[in-house]
Amino acid sequence: MKVLVTGGMGYIGSHTCIALHKAGITPVIYDNLSNASVKVFDQLFTITGERFDYVIGDIGDEAMLTKVLKEHKIEAVFHFAALKAVGESTEQPVNYYQNNVAKTLTMLKVMSKLDIKKIIFSSSATVYGEPQYLPIDEKHPISSTNPYGWSKVMVEQILKDLAQSDEQWLTIALRYFNPVGAHESGLIGESPKGIPNNLMPFIAQTAVGRRDCVSVFGDDYDTPDGTGVRDYIHITDLAAGHVDAFLHHQKGAGQTGTDTGNHAYNLGTGQGYSVLEMIKAFADASQKEIPYTLAPRRSGDIACNYADASLAETNLGWRATKTIEDMAADTWRWQTTYPNGLE
Ligand code: NAD
Ligand code: UFG
Repeated sequence: MKVLVTGGMGYIGSHTCIALHKAGITPVIYDNLSNASVKVFDQLFTITGERFDYVIGDIGDEAMLTKVLKEHKIEAVFHFAALKAVGESTEQPVNYYQNNVAKTLTMLKVMSKLDIKKIIFSSSATVYGEPQYLPIDEKHPISSTNPYGWSKVMVEQILKDLAQSDEQWLTIALRYFNPVGAHESGLIGESPKGIPNNLMPFIAQTAVGRRDCVSVFGDDYDTPDGTGVRDYIHITDLAAGHVDAFLHHQKGAGQTGTDTGNHAYNLGTGQGYSVLEMIKAFADASQKEIPYTLAPRRSGDIACNYADASLAETNLGWRATKTIEDMAADTWRWQTTYPNGLE
């Protein structure tokens, strides 16, 4: 079976291609390279021994998408392609809605026309907005605090409406908590452009000497050590979650084959770690001192966020298995092999 992986050269998409390949599903990568390097392709070959087909294209390009979906006889789409920087989204809301929502609509129209009615969508814990209770389960009210987050809320709603309007559609939204880590080979990983916004790449770049010091944004939260707590999930566990979700619903619960309808799952570990715990885990893995300073809270941040991921375990048989030690060690391997990313 062949599936299209939009954004397949990116951080999460590339790791998911490996997981798909392992499961005997052939990924066809479709990426406009706006935030990825084509060198990922060679790295995937080194890791898997397989040269995946890839197309440099935009999900808003109806003609190109139609051609690729038809030519490869694609049966489902794993949809990672999106812009993802929260801060940038508040400065460029139109770009974010255009890329993440409008172009997804174009893609869904093409899929409908070609009768390809299965999609696995990269959503985010950001769709829960300010947590009203912890751990967060899938019944938690949906909201957001920035255009990036709203773009995820909107696409989720579109997928829900689509599944309701046509009973042949299978739409699965996977709500990621905080993806970190890298493939155990050290050949692919996260390589943000410019100064990293996220904690883990910032720590990694500090350990390798690209940054002087980590700023810890707030030490006066109502958490055990006063710093922010998040549910970090290893990228390999996250990638496996996509395959498990797809295969579970593809196989179908009943006698009639593939499930249909709309489904949403949290992908997290259920365990929260603080900023200081992450710094310590990384210092241990790298055997480096990680200099840090205490800084004011970052605007828009919440104290604590972690998942109730039991629905994914019950329904899909999936659970995260990697520890923060694995997350730190694998990030460090990637960071030291490619200190400046693949470029
Ligand atoms: P990424 O930027 O590494 O990957 C996204 C890929 O999509 C990039 O390779 C980019 O070139 C491509 N792309 C963007 N717009 C495109 C378009 N119009 N047409 C074709 N390709 C396009 O990001 P990632 O971290 O791998 O994230 C993947 C998905 O997961 C995104 O939808 C993101 O919003 C979501 N997500 C990420 C996180 C995270 O912390 N990384 C958390 C929650 C959700
Ligand atoms: N932090 C620091 N210093 C830094 C960066 C982050 O102390 O240099 C702290 C933050 O204050 C927070 C924690 O580290 O307490 C994690 O911050 P990240 O920026 O790594 O992650 P967030 O939880 O803020 O955001 C992530 C994604 C968003 C997504 C959100 C919810 O980046 O896209 O998770 O899923 F919306």
